[in-house]
Amino acid sequence: MEKTFLMIKPDGVQRSLIGEVTARFERKGFKLAGAKLMTIDRSLAEEHYGEHKGKPFFEELVDFITSGPVFAMVWEGENVISTARKIVGSTNPQEAAPGTIRGDYGLIVGKNVIHGSDSKESAEREIGLFFNSEEIQDYTKDG
Ligand code: CMP
Repeated sequence: MEKTFLMIKPDGVQRSLIGEVTARFERKGFKLAGAKLMTIDRSLAEEHYGEHKGKPFFEELVDFITSGPVFAMVWEGENVISTARKIVGSTNPQEAAPGTIRGDYGLIVGKNVIHGSDSKESAEREIGLFFNSEEIQDYTKDG
């Protein structure tokens, strides 16, 4: 079953949005396969956001994502990567449609509540950065 990586950023955790955000993915029918509340160190942040290295906002992005706890998650289900991106909404909350997480809860691009993998390759890479295999549950087992 397809899996994606989603992470509620420090602004979302600080604003007590974990329940609101996870409810949207559960309601849609996706399964939470892994989750942890953690504080990211700079080296993990720089690796996770490696594709943005050199961009003007990179330092600000790393400063912000390491500034407080994040809620890192693995979600699974049919087409979860692209569907979760739709539920998350556009990167800039001012352009994100109402009804999306960023459209409903975000105001500025640097503090856009949640990160979601943008492709199968990113999902595999990001899940591997944040979780080991024992931390990911298997819903195909009985019980
Ligand atoms: P995310 O989906 O986590 O991926 C990269 C992040 O960089 C993005 O969400 C934004 O939070 C952030 N970002 C993108 N553009 C800017 C910008 N111009 N200034 C600050 N942060 C940005």
